[in-house]
This record gives sequence, structure tokens and C-alpha cells, in this order.
Amino acid sequence: ASVASTTQRNPDFSKITSDDISYFKKILGERGVVQDEEKLADANTDWMRKHKGSSKLMLQPRITEEVSQILKYCNSRCLAVVPQGGNTGLVGGSVPVFDEVIINVGSMNNILSFDKVSGILVCEAGCILENLISFLDNQGFIMPLDLGAKGSCQIGGNVSTNAGGLRLIRYGSLHGSVLGLEAVLANGTVLDMLGTLRKDNTGYDLKHLFIGSEGSLGIVTKVSILTPPMLSSVNLAFLACEDYASCQKLLLEAKRKLGEILSAFEFLDVNALNVVLKHLDGLRDPLPSSVHNFYVLIETTGSMESHDKEKLEAFLLQSMNSGIITDGVLAQDINQTSSFWRIREGIPEALMKAGAVYKYDLSVPPEKMYELVEEMRARLGSAANVVAYGHLGDGNLHLNISAPQYTDGLLSKIEPFVYEWTSKHRGSISAEHGLGLMKADKIHYSKSPETVLLMAAIKKLLDPNRILNPYKVLPPSILSQS
Ligand code: FAD
Ligand code: MLT
Ligand code: ZN
Repeated sequence: ASVASTTQRNPDFSKITSDDISYFKKILGERGVVQDEEKLADANTDWMRKHKGSSKLMLQPRITEEVSQILKYCNSRCLAVVPQGGNTGLVGGSVPVFDEVIINVGSMNNILSFDKVSGILVCEAGCILENLISFLDNQGFIMPLDLGAKGSCQIGGNVSTNAGGLRLIRYGSLHGSVLGLEAVLANGTVLDMLGTLRKDNTGYDLKHLFIGSEGSLGIVTKVSILTPPMLSSVNLAFLACEDYASCQKLLLEAKRKLGEILSAFEFLDVNALNVVLKHLDGLRDPLPSSVHNFYVLIETTGSMESHDKEKLEAFLLQSMNSGIITDGVLAQDINQTSSFWRIREGIPEALMKAGAVYKYDLSVPPEKMYELVEEMRARLGSAANVVAYGHLGDGNLHLNISAPQYTDGLLSKIEPFVYEWTSKHRGSISAEHGLGLMKADKIHYSKSPETVLLMAAIKKLLDPNRILNPYKVLPPSILSQS
């Protein structure tokens, strides 16, 4: 059974009273205290529509001091809270399990500073990723991360999930590009770690604890991030390979031959392409002359159009001649570029429209990655459509199983097999989406018992009453022991 169905409300947590509401209204005003049923229905439901809480209260602070006052009060009253950003998380981490108070920092959406020489942006955690991308566009810079949820996700949510996305192969993870942050602990203490330095070896670098901690250690309120300059020449190719071995060869060749201009390497199999073409409007197969087994998107970003084009065209010609790719097209204009990206970025949305979807986000040694997909197909037969796509350049497979309905029978054929297989190959059961509620009790497939105990001890130190995002990230049984 899933954690969601077996979790019991922790009786140590208080229930909200009218006195609590009055206190929050005193701090935040009427505007910051949301009890409207429609708004709460949205905030209680996750993007996948798999998890539904029953919170009766959402708080919307506007400044760090308000976050601090709210948390201090919740801690003293033992009121559980869920930090929520854009609510685009895919593991049930951003919504309440029971009646936890939702704290959304979406009203904290100011850009605080931008330094054009260093490229360092400092902003509040509620800034929507796409708004930051637009702001930087005007300054001639880009964000070091890009993902399909950019229109809704917040930078605080991105940091808290250590989001990966489409540019990680070039710009690395947020552990590298986040230079500092401000976070509020469960007891209201404000930790100012909002440095803007590339180098600072003064002891433990505690900001890293908050990057990827999924709201379990504190609420991120401000972020300082290193942004790369926008380069003038960007090219996108949509390519076809007939087998998975060729996709891997293509990756190796792309790293060697495109070198410093390679900025994305994404793959999807024919099942993923078909789901998108069937369920999303206005998209056409970029390579309609025949059906292929695999598709790869390669993006290059550089500073000299003629040089980059020459390099890319030579690379494509060689890959064609050697048979690594069997077909391909270079985006000719901005419309084609955005429709190629829409095909890749639209897969999660298309899968949601197709019906029930079991989602797995795995790091697996690239040479083994597609074996898992094939084994899963053999296990499930015609009961489900096994769809594979992901950030192949980062060794990250998104294995999605699409079916007409969620059934226990199907789930029992998928789990624990998928986790055991990943663990056996020393992979990660969450490459980028986190553990949330979905995988809180699965952590041992990827982390040793000693590591999990240390995580629990850190959690206890920072949040002794366990009010921050309860039932998520760590198995509740371990927290109650430690
Ligand atoms: P939420 O979903 O609101 O929250 C996510 C987690 O962070 C929760 O545990 C929450 O408690 C915590 N949290 C949120 N804000 C704060 C804060 N200020 N302080 C402390 N904790 C906080 N993810 C990737 O890594 N790569 C992708 O390519 C990618 N693509 C996606 C595409 C689509 C279409 C969708 C729907 C999702 C995708 N995701 C991807 C998953 C998701 O968008 C990311 O995890 C994103 O970073 C979450 O941001 P959010 O603001 O929506 O956070
Ligand atoms: C993606 O890469 O599209 C996202 O991580 C979302 C998903 O896995 O479906
Ligand atoms: Zn992804």
C-alpha cells in the first residue's frame, strides 16, 4: 500500500482554532489569510491530482519577518505546516496530507538586485521562474535552469526540490548555481546565508541543506543565483535513432564534437512522441516520412552563429553517414524551435490527458537505462503503455506507465520491482523530483541506513516538533524513533 493510504494523522499536532485565525489576521491582515473554499481546493490538490489534503487555511506572507512570526507561532502551538510554491511538484510534497496549514510565499515576488558584471541575481523565493527568465532576457542573461513547469513554479520551490530540467547538462545543478539563500527555521529563526560570492570556504556550507530538502527543514525566503549571459546563437535539432545504443553513441559524439556549445540533450521514445501527438493540439511529427524508435533533441548555444552552425551541420552529417541517426531536422525559425520544445516539454501534460499515470524519475547508468523500460514492457504486456523520456545527457530517465485507470493489480506489477531494479544498479529512485509523500518510505532503496539516520538527526535538530512538511521525505517511523 502507498504511504498516502497508510499514513495516520500525527495526534501531537494541534487543530486550528478561531484564536489561531485571529492571530494570523493580526500579523498578515485579512488578505494574507485565505479560507476561501475554491482557493483551498486548488491548494490542497497536487498537479498530478493524486494527492488531496483537507487544509482549511492558507497563509500568504509578504516579508521574511511575517514568515518568521507565523512559524514561531505554529511551532509553539504545534501546528503542522506545508510550504507551498507553484504546486507543480510531482511527488505529493507540496500539498497537505491532512489539515496542515499551507504557507505560500508567492506574494514575496520581488527582484532585489541584479549585477550585470557578475550575473548574480538576488530575488525573493516567490518569484515565478518564467518571470525571472523574462527579467533576465531584458538584461541579456538567462536562468541556469529551465523546465516545463516554468509558467507556475517558483524559484523557492525550484531550490527546495533542487530542480534539474533541460539545461543541467550545460550549467550544472542548483548546488552549483545557487550562491546563497535566506531561510526561516521552524522556530522562526531567520538564517541569513544570502551570500553573493563564488567562493566562501568559511566552514560548513549550510545553504546546501536547504537545496533539495523539500520544505522539511525550513522555508526558503530569498535566493541568490548565478546566471549565465545570453549567447547570440542557439540552434535546435530534432533527430531520430533506431535503437537505444545509437542514442548513447550520439551523446558521446555530441559531447566530443559539439563540446562547449552543447546545451541540451533530451530523449524520448516513439511511445512518448505518440502520446504528445495524440493529446496535445497543434503539434506535428517533425520527421513525418517514417516512424522511428527514438528521438533526441540537441540544443547548442554559442556566441558565433557561423561557427556554431558549421560545427552542428558537420556533426549531423557525420552522424547520418555513420548511421547513428537515421533522420533529423534543424529548427528553421522561432516557431519551429518552440514546437520542438513543446513536444518534449509537453509529455507530462499529454500523459495526464491520456489517463492514469505512474511516474518514476530515476538516475540509472545510461547503458542500462533502456533495459529497465523493456523489462517493464515485458512485465506489463498490453495492460499499460510504457513511455520513456528524459534528460539522457544527465543519466536521468523518466519512466512513465500510462493506463486507463489506477489499479492495485497494475501497481503491484510495477512496485517494488522498479525500485529494486534501480537499487540493484546503484541508481537513484529520485533523480530530480524529490521524495515528497510518494517516496518517503522508499528512501532506503537509494540511501544507506546510516545516512538516513543522520538525515533524521538533522531534521530533529532543526525542527524538533516536526511541524515542517510532516509525513514527507523521511519515513515517519524513523522520525518517531530518533
Ligand atoms: P511546489 O510544487 O509548490 O513544492 C515542491 C516542494 O518544495 C514541496 O515539498 C514544498 O513543500 C517545497 N517548497 C516549495 N516552496 C518552498 C519554499 N519557499 N521553501 C521551502 N520549501 C518549499 N522538476 C525537475 O526537476 N525537472 C524538470 O524538468 C521538471 N519538469 C516539470 C514539468 C512539468 C510540466 C511539471 C508539472 C513539473 C516538472 N518538474 C520538474 C517538477 C516541479 O516543477 C519542480 O520540482 C519544481 O521545482 C517545483 O517548484 P514549485 O514552486 O511548483 O514547488
Ligand atoms: C520532465 O523532464 O518533463 C519533468 O521532469 C516532468 C516529468 O518527469 O514528467
Ligand atoms: Zn525531468
